[in-house]
Amino acid sequence: MGKVVITKHPLIQHKLALLRDKNTGSKDFRVMVGEMAMLMCFEAMRDLPLVEIEVETPLTITNTRVISGTKIAFVPILRAGLGMIDGVLNLVPSARVGHIGLYRDPDSLQPVDYYCKLPIDVSERDVIVLDPMLATGGSAIDAISRIKEHAPKSIKFIGIIAAPEGLQALEEAHPDVDVFLASLDEKLDEHGYIVPGLGDAGDRIFGTK
Ligand code: PRP
Ligand code: URA
Repeated sequence: MGKVVITKHPLIQHKLALLRDKNTGSKDFRVMVGEMAMLMCFEAMRDLPLVEIEVETPLTITNTRVISGTKIAFVPILRAGLGMIDGVLNLVPSARVGHIGLYRDPDSLQPVDYYCKLPIDVSERDVIVLDPMLATGGSAIDAISRIKEHAPKSIKFIGIIAAPEGLQALEEAHPDVDVFLASLDEKLDEHGYIVPGLGDAGDRIFGTK
């Protein structure tokens, strides 16, 4: 089974409270989704391998450690995952970015694919999939299946809120994928929305409702 990490860091929990608040407007919502993505990416990259190198400081020569040999590709799921991309690129500016376009059919709740463009060398990269909401899990499962067709070195998923049903479905479909979240909420409602959740993430980021 992949790991599931629910980050309780006070900065993340504070920003999550502001995201949940229906009175938070699009501009602040967008800024905080980006900030949370950066903080969660920090957590997801805890296991990056380090190698020892020698550097000359102004005073002496010393051994120190740097990240080496890790090539990252971030893959936001459109649209809401786009809100996370600037934050994670602030941490890893050399990463490549792929895009997967999916939306949930409002009646069947099944994901509908409309776009997929991944970095050409994705098979040499560790992929981090970004989507703030894991509701039924259908979108993340589908996106990860499509990415796996290109055989990347590893895949992690960074979200913000998950429903228990979605997390379970994702773990069953892709047990090799580590999942990083800020909250595991109570349930899905009859329309497939996460409760208490934060509403429709794409609409709140882009102000489309
Ligand atoms: C939202 C969200 C996820 C998906 C989660 O996207 O950003 O991609 O729903 O639901 P699931 O786990 O049940 O698949 P939506 O379909 O609303 O598309 P949008 O981001 O373009 O608005
Ligand atoms: N997608 C969202 O944006 N929010 C939900 O609560 C469920 C799916």
